[in-house]
Amino acid sequence: MADLDDLREGSDFGLGVASQNQSFHVKGASNLPWGMKDRLSRIFNPKTGRAVMLAFDHGFIMGPTSGLERIDLTIVPLIEYADCLMCTRGILQSTIPANTNKPICLRSDAGSSILTELNDNVLIDIEDVIRMNVTAMAVMLAIGDTANEAKTVANLYKAVDKASRYNIPVMGVTAVGKQMARDARYFGLASRICAENGANIVKTYYCDGFEKVTAACPVPVVIAGGKKLEEKEALELCYRAVSEGAAGVDMGRNVFQSTSPAAMIQAVRGVIHEGLTPDQAYEMFNDLSK
Ligand code: 5RP
Repeated sequence: MADLDDLREGSDFGLGVASQNQSFHVKGASNLPWGMKDRLSRIFNPKTGRAVMLAFDHGFIMGPTSGLERIDLTIVPLIEYADCLMCTRGILQSTIPANTNKPICLRSDAGSSILTELNDNVLIDIEDVIRMNVTAMAVMLAIGDTANEAKTVANLYKAVDKASRYNIPVMGVTAVGKQMARDARYFGLASRICAENGANIVKTYYCDGFEKVTAACPVPVVIAGGKKLEEKEALELCYRAVSEGAAGVDMGRNVFQSTSPAAMIQAVRGVIHEGLTPDQAYEMFNDLSK
């Protein structure tokens, strides 16, 4: 029982001062419950409203691709610079130290690999997501892929259904099929379908007319980096994306395949959180690479 000595009556009630309501910094999340908001706040920095997510889930379809042969050696040293880690449960359990205290966006669907037709995925169990104490789930949508479109939309829909019981946000990831045009019409459609089905975050690709993609998506959009570019070009991509409404990046190859991954992720942070121009960020990259 608490010590009852010297009980003091409350006296500072702020009478006459309206109760302080703060607006929430994540797009489309104002009506969500506290647990959802708390998790989203771990991913999206409340000061900038943005996030630098580090994606290294590529092995689930392509095995030990360049830069991810030894995640313990290449990715673990980058963790301190990321706001959130996106990976599979196998890598999380085997290789990511449990005391990093970084939010995890768990790749929560799996299925076909690069050796077969991609996108034929099923969902992992929500119990596994909870057991690993992850902050968000990531589920891919293959819009326009006749064989898998409906199945992947159902994966997202079911993930949202289950995750929302535990206030776990879901990120919809728009796949790009070989036949899909990489334009604002396609990414705008795919992103919107993610949000319409309940995704709290959408991951997509930058394209010409990107401001229409972000404008028509009622939740935050983060971009994948896509194939490896020259560092300066990748920083320009980040800059254009956030200038046109993205809430950050969920970037993989352009970080871990860089000549200096630690310098690159810090330069990306400079663009996303500190408003550096591509030139300033590239200078930072060069300085840190030395
Ligand atoms: C694939 C993914 C990858 O994580 C994504 O493509 C990010 O990596 P990169 O920046 O290398 O494109 O979600 O579904």
